[in-house]
Amino acid sequence: MKYRRLRHADTPISEIGLGCASYWGKRIFSEKRAQAVVHRALEQGINAFDTGSSYSGGHAEWRLGRAVRHCPRRDDLWISSKAGTKIGKGGRLIKDFTPTGIRLSVESSLRALGLSRLPILYLHGPNPEDFNDETYRVLEDLRQAGLVGLVGVNSFADEIIRLAVDSGQFQCIMTDFNVLKPERAALVHELKNQGLDVFIAAALAGGLYSRTFYRPHRPQHLWYWARALLRQRPQLSQAKRLFFLNQVPGWSATQLALAYVLQHADMACALIGTTDPNHLRELAAVSGKKPPTAIMKSLAGE
Ligand SMILES: NC(=O)c1ccc[n+]([C@@H]2O[C@H](COP(=O)([O-])OP(=O)(O)OC[C@H]3O[C@@H](n4cnc5c(N)ncnc54)[C@H](OP(=O)(O)O)[C@@H]3O)[C@@H](O)[C@H]2O)c1
Repeated sequence: MKYRRLRHADTPISEIGLGCASYWGKRIFSEKRAQAVVHRALEQGINAFDTGSSYSGGHAEWRLGRAVRHCPRRDDLWISSKAGTKIGKGGRLIKDFTPTGIRLSVESSLRALGLSRLPILYLHGPNPEDFNDETYRVLEDLRQAGLVGLVGVNSFADEIIRLAVDSGQFQCIMTDFNVLKPERAALVHELKNQGLDVFIAAALAGGLYSRTFYRPHRPQHLWYWARALLRQRPQLSQAKRLFFLNQVPGWSATQLALAYVLQHADMACALIGTTDPNHLRELAAVSGKKPPTAIMKSLAGE
């Protein structure tokens, strides 16, 4: 596993991180298998794990906490979580970026994860009005109290990312960049130049271009399908033009998709989601492996 240096911290971070969210964190998904995914990640040298207070109905953070509880390197892991969204009655997602809401969310995340300090805290999809002095003050207080390390913003919206950069209050941004969004490379580059550490969410673009996506054989595959139909409909049709990724000798389609993100020196860590420890091993093998230049150029639209 290759590691990268963050601008704002000394501990190197694995260039691939495990996203502990969605189906992985759901109660219906086996605890044993979910933990096996985390343990396989640790075995492969992954030291970055991303989760969120509202992920998987509020279960994902607790599950990640249980999975790393006995990890001797637990305090050196780059564990990130999010504040600003919480699960309300009936499983509804509620936004709460008030100072009290942020503080309570961090305290709850620390309990769930079994940590005394959260290495990275992101504001989870804030709105423009959430960028204000009250928010900055509570984030600074949490940092001063040693409860939080770096603070960042997780958003896929350009306008929000701009507000985060212009505020000068954040050290990292988590946004989407992948084979279905190659145009994002310029933004990732610009953010790095502005002094921010850039984390990539949905680095595999949900795997929509992979043949395996169209051969569902586990319950989670049907869930992924439903998610794609609800949230990624335009990408589903765009993904067809990437089916050639399934025919490259020595590489799987998801490996090539990950390689495309990893070749960008400006990003710090590419977060991938999986429910399969074998998929994780396959993806970890991409770190340090040189991808075919012609395929990478074609993905970049060159
Ligand atoms: N998506 C978002 O909107 C979002 C927002 C904020 C943050 N994030 C962060 O980004 C992380 C990753 O995002 P994501 O999970 O939405 O999407 P993703 O990593 O782009 O894609 C996950 C999909 O890829 C499949 N996959 C993984 N490895 C594979 C392999 N080797 N071969 C075939 N298929 C493979 C997974 O299926 P299997 O389970 O079968 O492996 C799953 O269907 C999240 O966990 C979270 O930490 C995401």
